[in-house]
Amino acid sequence: MWSPAPLCALGRRRRGPSAPLQPLTRLLQREYREKIQREYRERPPIHLLEREYREKIPIHPLQREYRQKSLTRLLQREYRALPGQGWGRTQHLSPRCFVSNNPKSRRNPKTFPVLDGRVPAVYRHVFEENLRNSEAVIQRYSELLERVKKGGGEKAILRHTQRNKKLFVRERLRLLLDHEDFLELSPLAGLDMPYGDVPAAACLTGIGRICGVWCVFIASDATVKGGTIYPIGVKKQLRAQEIAMENRLLSVHLVDSGGAFLPLQSELFPDKLHGGRIFYNEAIMSAMGIPQVAVVCGSCVAGGAYVPTMAEESVIIDKIGTLFLAGPPLVKAATGEDVSPEELGGARLHSQVSGCSDHFAASEEEAYECIRNVVSTLNCDPVPEEDRESDSPLYSPEELLGLAPLDYSCTLPVKLSLYISLQILSRLVDGSRFQEFKAAYGTTLVTGFGHVEGHLVGIVANNGELVHDAALKGSHFVQLCGQRGIPILFLQNTAPQPAGPASISQAEAHSNRLKAQASMMAAVACAAVPKITIVIGGCFGSDSYVMCGRSFSPNFLFLWPNARVALVDPRHLPTVPAAGDWAGEELELKQLKAKPVPFSALSRLEEESSAFYSSSRLWDDGIILPQDSRKVIAQCLEIMEQKKSQSVSPHPHPIIRM
Ligand code: COA
Repeated sequence: MWSPAPLCALGRRRRGPSAPLQPLTRLLQREYREKIQREYRERPPIHLLEREYREKIPIHPLQREYRQKSLTRLLQREYRALPGQGWGRTQHLSPRCFVSNNPKSRRNPKTFPVLDGRVPAVYRHVFEENLRNSEAVIQRYSELLERVKKGGGEKAILRHTQRNKKLFVRERLRLLLDHEDFLELSPLAGLDMPYGDVPAAACLTGIGRICGVWCVFIASDATVKGGTIYPIGVKKQLRAQEIAMENRLLSVHLVDSGGAFLPLQSELFPDKLHGGRIFYNEAIMSAMGIPQVAVVCGSCVAGGAYVPTMAEESVIIDKIGTLFLAGPPLVKAATGEDVSPEELGGARLHSQVSGCSDHFAASEEEAYECIRNVVSTLNCDPVPEEDRESDSPLYSPEELLGLAPLDYSCTLPVKLSLYISLQILSRLVDGSRFQEFKAAYGTTLVTGFGHVEGHLVGIVANNGELVHDAALKGSHFVQLCGQRGIPILFLQNTAPQPAGPASISQAEAHSNRLKAQASMMAAVACAAVPKITIVIGGCFGSDSYVMCGRSFSPNFLFLWPNARVALVDPRHLPTVPAAGDWAGEELELKQLKAKPVPFSALSRLEEESSAFYSSSRLWDDGIILPQDSRKVIAQCLEIMEQKKSQSVSPHPHPIIRM
């Protein structure tokens, strides 16, 4: 009697009207749709439905697979059928992810093994050396941050606040955000550029909450050359928009900008990923159903004028906000007419006549209050600030300063490496508990599951050279996370350069390693789950791609200040020997083998591979302190979780301003 069912489920036989389970399925569908509509109007808890279905559908060993599939199908249909009741919440999940809405179900199990994070006395000197280096780089990082926080300098701030009667950009954000839990992105961007210092690239970007909803902020800093957009500023704004798109985050623009920085127009106007892309993205994001709002809180000239005009809703501030394609000086030059900024494109004109702005605010404070009200009308479900239960790690995160490697070769020799990664993990995951995957295989890569402030995460951490077995294990694990819908955290510390093959068997090992790394690259690129990469040491060569480097589009990528980013580590390159050190044939042979690099090039390479150089060029989303990593990772996981509660726009068209 039961035999046709499993065959149908396995696709071996077409399911016909005579299949015995059909009437039962239809009956159940109808019965349960009515039941759900009656009983679970608010938010149907899917786990309850699942249990009820299980109890209702008869069990037979041969039918198990069919039952699972029909159960999945039925639940999906039920959720689709109920308007506005949770389908948007669950449709992105694969059928295996029956996620309960109850946060308690995500509590970290106390059964994961506890890591031993003690630093053995024999490695204490390495710990001390790392610690000294960490303190030095953190000191440098703090100095650079101080420099950035001063914006365009004291004179410019005075002009901005006293003469122009405007609030400083950080003050504006403070008024807008729910609280100061703001994840600033790439604050060092724009430092020491070939065209000079552009503190914070003249615009602050970051992620914070308004009315409980995580939003991306793009806020011009008019104290830096009138908030004009430099090439690095374009890159920073595009990255913020990319983050908003990938994570479906509402975007808030605070525009106070003189438009393009004219002397560098060729580097920010003509190309695909130049200034115009910001406006293109605004349209695409609107069509994707990602809301964008703007405050005109200063001059919005030329390019700067399009940002608020293309936003879905905008607010303009009286006597402070102006919006025009060409300012009064250009009007004077073209027509000889004297016109004030207010007359040409002030708040009253745009809210009463042109319609470029939707709300008039008498003061800055009123404008930010208005934006908060606008956000509350977006109908975005904030991720509940749940009381997620989580244990702190058993070891102090402060000790990560002694584990942040100064240099690959001196801190991670093979023996030590086996537990440096685990020691780092023991200071990142809840209760220092870690469910390791394939612990004894491919040990130069550590893979496994842990919780960070209650969020389950798959962890992939370098633990030596990414050799064949390690890369295979990495591919397997990444696919597991993809299949289970678990976000992946990559802790990257790649080897400076692979040693050249010295024999045929080594060359063979290299080919195998290449093949396995290619597989892992494919697995990483295609894993459709959120990814966070933290470079905790080296980001060298192709291994860094495999470990979800920038070109593999992790949702977020941060560096520790000790990190080094380069094709090869200059500290491991041989240099030209001093004259007289070697002689004759031996010298020739050694020079040939060593391919020496001149000292001048070495010092440039050294400088270019520092974390600060990387961060000022936006190769990452910012530097984070090792001891803050746990908090930042948890924040990112929470931000990415908001996507689950966003429904995809049923109308793929942008909002057009009328
Ligand atoms: N390109 C290059 N530099 C610019 C600039 C631009 N588009 N806009 C402003 N700056 C510079 C100014 O030269 C000044 O530099 P300085 O400090 O070295 O003297 C600095 O930014 C601040 O400008 P300032 O005019 O003193 O400040 P402000 O607060 O009084 O006015 C603006 C700010 C943006 C309203 C005003 O500078 C302006 O209208 N700029 C022209 C904007 C424009 O025409 N843009 C077209 C882009 S396509």
